[in-house]
Amino acid sequence: MRTDLKRVAFVCLGNICRSPLAEGVFRDVVAARGQSAQFDIDSAGIGAWHTGNPPDPRSIAVAARHGIDLSAQCARQVAPGDFKRFDYIVAMDADNLRNLKAMAPVGSTADIVQFLPFALGVSRDIEDPYYGGVDGFETAYQLIRSASEALAGKLSSGA
Ligand code: 4NP
Repeated sequence: MRTDLKRVAFVCLGNICRSPLAEGVFRDVVAARGQSAQFDIDSAGIGAWHTGNPPDPRSIAVAARHGIDLSAQCARQVAPGDFKRFDYIVAMDADNLRNLKAMAPVGSTADIVQFLPFALGVSRDIEDPYYGGVDGFETAYQLIRSASEALAGKLSSGA
């Protein structure tokens, strides 16, 4: 395993709305910084309901409006090995964070953090947009964009 890579997995409940967006936006931010080779980026869900499915069409659409292609992504559930494979497991909300901490096997090495508190220092969830309208996806996108830029800076400066 390359030790110079930063391994980051974004996690939400279903891995079809928020975390695929976070994976795509963070890839875009890192690419714009010329740092793609320094990161291993993935996403996963707390639950297995959507395993094998592409992201929600509303996430694909909001990303596409901002020039990001999520269409190759495929949902999966968080696996025990993720807690050793990744340096950072980044939860979208406080529920996800609590669930991840409960799922972490003994001997886990990943830092399990919540996205907005960790990246931006604000105590706020990226709320689940699944049951709402399109506005919720744009809000999630904007929060994810700000937090991704801050996270890329933070991890590049040795966090
Ligand atoms: P996500 O949104 O956690 O942002 O992917 C959800 C997607 C599906 C469900 C819940 C949240 N669901 O209950 O199926």
